[in-house]
This record gives sequence, structure tokens and C-alpha cells, in this order.
Amino acid sequence: MTINKLEDLRQRKEKILLGGGEKRIASQHEKGKLTARERISLLFDEGTFVELDAFIKHRCVNFGMEKVDAPGEGVVTGYGQVDGRLVYAYAQDFTVVGGSLGEMHAKKICKVQDMALKMGAPIIGLNDSGGARIQEGVDALSGYGHIFYRNTISSGVIPQITAIMGPCAGGAVYSPALTDFIFMVDKTSQMFITGPQVIKTVTGEEVSAEELGGAMTHNKISGVAHFVSANDEACIAEIRRLISFLPSNNMETSPIFETDDDINKILPELDEIVPENPNKPYDMKNIIQHIADDGDFMEVQQYYAQNMITGYIRINGQTVGVIANQPKVLAGCLDINASDKAGRFIRTCDCFNIPVLNIVDVPGFLPGTTQEYGGIIRHGAKMLYAYSEATVPKITLIVRKAYGGAYIGMCNKELGSDIVLAWPTAEIAVMGPEGAANIIFKNDISNSDDPQTTRAEKIADYKSEFATPYKAAERGFVDDVIEPSSTRPRLVDALNMLASKQETRPPKKHGNVPL
Ligand code: HXC
Repeated sequence: MTINKLEDLRQRKEKILLGGGEKRIASQHEKGKLTARERISLLFDEGTFVELDAFIKHRCVNFGMEKVDAPGEGVVTGYGQVDGRLVYAYAQDFTVVGGSLGEMHAKKICKVQDMALKMGAPIIGLNDSGGARIQEGVDALSGYGHIFYRNTISSGVIPQITAIMGPCAGGAVYSPALTDFIFMVDKTSQMFITGPQVIKTVTGEEVSAEELGGAMTHNKISGVAHFVSANDEACIAEIRRLISFLPSNNMETSPIFETDDDINKILPELDEIVPENPNKPYDMKNIIQHIADDGDFMEVQQYYAQNMITGYIRINGQTVGVIANQPKVLAGCLDINASDKAGRFIRTCDCFNIPVLNIVDVPGFLPGTTQEYGGIIRHGAKMLYAYSEATVPKITLIVRKAYGGAYIGMCNKELGSDIVLAWPTAEIAVMGPEGAANIIFKNDISNSDDPQTTRAEKIADYKSEFATPYKAAERGFVDDVIEPSSTRPRLVDALNMLASKQETRPPKKHGNVPL
């Protein structure tokens, strides 16, 4: 080969590596953002990233685009290793035509989507884009359609993770929404269907881009996003951490991590963690961290519907999805948002063969017109559906209240819990003692000479009879009542026993989850 040809290749590649050029790279850095290539190099194990389609060019000749050179077509695509495991990725390059998505940009993304599905490997999208490339019109929209379709076909087969690391406007938000997890970077990323300008024109409402679709908006209010990070580096480190909890595809299980944390560890602190007073809150996250290997808990949707806790831990090195009520927030009641959050999380675990651990302290569904008009019946049904449908090992640990429909909603025996354990502090009943006494002893109380004392006596009667785990244990709804301090070894044992669980469902096209 002549030196000229090699030199030509090198020069071409160098130009592509520079994306939109030094000025635009500097502007990206000034905004506190890394470039697409810097993000890719942080995401993958050093030296493992292999780029595909660097030479792709757009074919647009409208509105002067024929004169626009767009190195890499505004997106870097390829594959590499994350902790030694194959992962595919695309990173939109805002320095090239604002990372906007046209026909060929979409083709590059679709190629890695197809490869990730064929090879059974996770795919990560790092989004930083002005959305559909306006000059390309319907060709750009078609590109999005191709991506959405592939997101859907891959759903439940390979983990799909998106990070929003810049603007994400219009229909562009829907590819992220079709993936399993959305990360956002605080202050530098936004997601919205229509931006502030359009909103002002159509409805007169004035709102900033950050308020409308910033990271905290979607992590706390809308529940669209699952994670928020302080900057690009932290976001990519968290993506790598999440991947460590997940299998590469739906035919595999998550990697096992050797742990030095004693699997037979007795935790006396747990004997004291639930307060004597049943109305006193405590932090459920303490229980989760005590049980987890090395106290490591990766919380999912930390800021949304905080009355429900979801996230990943490892027990004896094995990934476990935790769904737990948080007595500190709304007394741990189930409401619309908590049901949506838990329902989605349970289904994500089930797709990817991750056993679920349900830690229950739930006084019931949140009452009121806001909840009823908002469709709590439909939303609550998602949890019942998700638990019943899930065939992964399901373990339920009742630590305090398990009342009424919410007791079922947190996966009781009948929804298919394989092992139900209860602490002696568990109260499993149709409702709490005060409410129950007011209804079933109404006449005794009102006919009494001393209604207050009678009421207190009836509540005490009810408590000793029903506000315990023993009635449920007598019927076999609870498999065992355990000492809280022995919870970790009991869970290790249950997971070992359930490792070979096989459960099938009748063949069908797909179920009809109440959306
Ligand atoms: C073509 C675009 C573009 C786009 C940005 N650029 N967005 N080019 N199509 N959608 C170009 C700009 O012209 C500019 O080019 C460069 O990218 C950087 O953009 P700036 O505006 O200078 O950057 P900034 O000030 O940071 O603002 C970023 C932005 C803004 C907020 C994203 O560019 C913007 O509002 N863009 C349009 C967003 C939008 O409405 N997109 C369409 C959504 S509808 P030069 O050459 O000047 O540097 C949609 C439909 C999808 O996506 C439907 C799917 C079903």
C-alpha cells in the first residue's frame, strides 16, 4: 500500500475524531458537558471501544445541507467492554449539527440496536441532541420510527439504558421512554415534548426549560427518569454500576460477585429497628442496607413516590430487586405513583431473571378523591398484575403492617410468593386495630357506659387476636415467623433453595396489563 493511501486514511479519521471542531468542543466544555467521544471513553473499559460507521455521511440537499460536512453524522456508535462484558453504545455528538437526528444518523443507531439484540448484549444511548434534523423533514421522523420500533422489539430481551446529557426535545424523548432506565445529568439535561417557546405560544404558560424538563423535574415529579447525577462523569460511573447488577440478556442471570460479607451474619440491630409504637415511622432503607452484601444498595427512582422504595442489592453475591414500603413517607401507603413505580420495577426484574424481595410495612391504599379520580384502581392493579405474572423467585418479608388489599398488593402467598417470612412485629389483618374496632364493635362501644374504656379494650382484644403474624402462620399464609436478627441467613437460604425455580404460564400472545 502506498504511504499516500495510509496518510489519507489517517487524515480522514483525524477529521472525524474532531467532530464539529475545536470551537464547538470548547463550547460543549463551557456548558459543563463532555463530548460524545469523551463520554464513550469513560463508559468502556480502557482501549476496548470499537467504532463502527465513522465514515457515514448524510444525503440531505435541502436548505444548504449539501454544503454541510457532518463528521460521523453527529453520532458515535460501536461496541466494547464494560467490566469485561460486551456492551453496545451510541453517543450523540452535539458539536455536529447539534447532534440532530437525520436519516443516516438514525441508520447508525439502528445498526448497533440490531447488533446488540442479535448478540444478546446491553445497549446504552448517550443522548445530547436538538432532536429531528429539521432540514431532513420526514426522513428524520422515519429515522425515529425505526429506533422506537427496535426499542420495543428489544424490550425484555436485552437491557436498554439511556442517559440524557443535553437537550432532548420533541419525539426524541420517546426512545428513552421505551428503554428500561433513564439517567439524567443535573442542570445540563432536559426532556420535553414541546419546549418553553411553544408552550408560551399555545397556552400562555411561562416556564423555564429546567423547570419544565430538567433532571429533578423528571426524577421527582413526573417519574420519567430513574437516576440523577451531578455531572457527566458521575452519570457514566452510575451506568457502569447499574450494568453490574443486570444480566446481558433475558436468557442469562446477573453476574455473581464474590463477597466477603458473612452470609450467616446475625444482625441484632434488626431486633430493635421496628418501634414499639405502631404509628411511629422508621427508615426502611436501614433494613435494606443491613440485609445487603456490604450494605450496597443501588436505589432506582430515589426521588419519585418515596413511599415506595425500589432498587438493587446483592445477597451472597446474587442480584436481588427490592420492593419495600417506606413508613417515613405517607406512612408507606400505596398510591398511584407508588403502584406505577413498583409495577414497572417488578416487571423489569422479571424480564431479566432477577429475584424479587418484598419488604412489607403497609397500612393500606391512600384514601381520598384525588386517588380515586386519578384511577388508583387501575394503577394499583398494575402491582397485582406484575407480581402474579412474575415467575422469578419471589420472597416476601413482613416486618410490620400488612393490611387489606395492600397486603395482597405487596405479594402475598396467593400472588405467588414462594417464601413468606414474618417478623414477630408483623400485623397481618384486614385493617388496623383502631379502624376495625370502630366498625365491628360499634354497638358495644356506643352502648357502653364508658365508651372510651370499652373502645380501648376492644382495640386491645383485636390487637392480640389479629395484629400478629400468628393467625396467618396458622393458615400457612406465612411460612415462618423469624427472629429479625436472623433475616440475612434466612434470605440467603431462601435464595439458594429457589435457584432452580421453574414456573410456566399458559401460552398467549401477551397479557393485557392495565396501563
Ligand atoms: C437541525 C439543529 C437542530 C435541529 C440544533 N441544531 N437543533 N439543526 N435540526 N433540530 C443546530 C443549530 O442550528 C446550531 O447549528 C447547532 O445545532 C447548535 O444549536 P444551538 O441552537 O446553537 O445550540 P443551543 O443554543 O445550545 O440550543 C440547543 C437547542 C436548540 C435548545 C437544542 O438548538 C433548539 O431548540 N433546537 C431545536 C429543538 C427542536 O425543536 N427540535 C425538533 C423537535 S421535534 P450552527 O450551525 O448554528 O452551529 C422532533 C420531532 C421528533 O424532534 C418526532 C419523532 C417522532
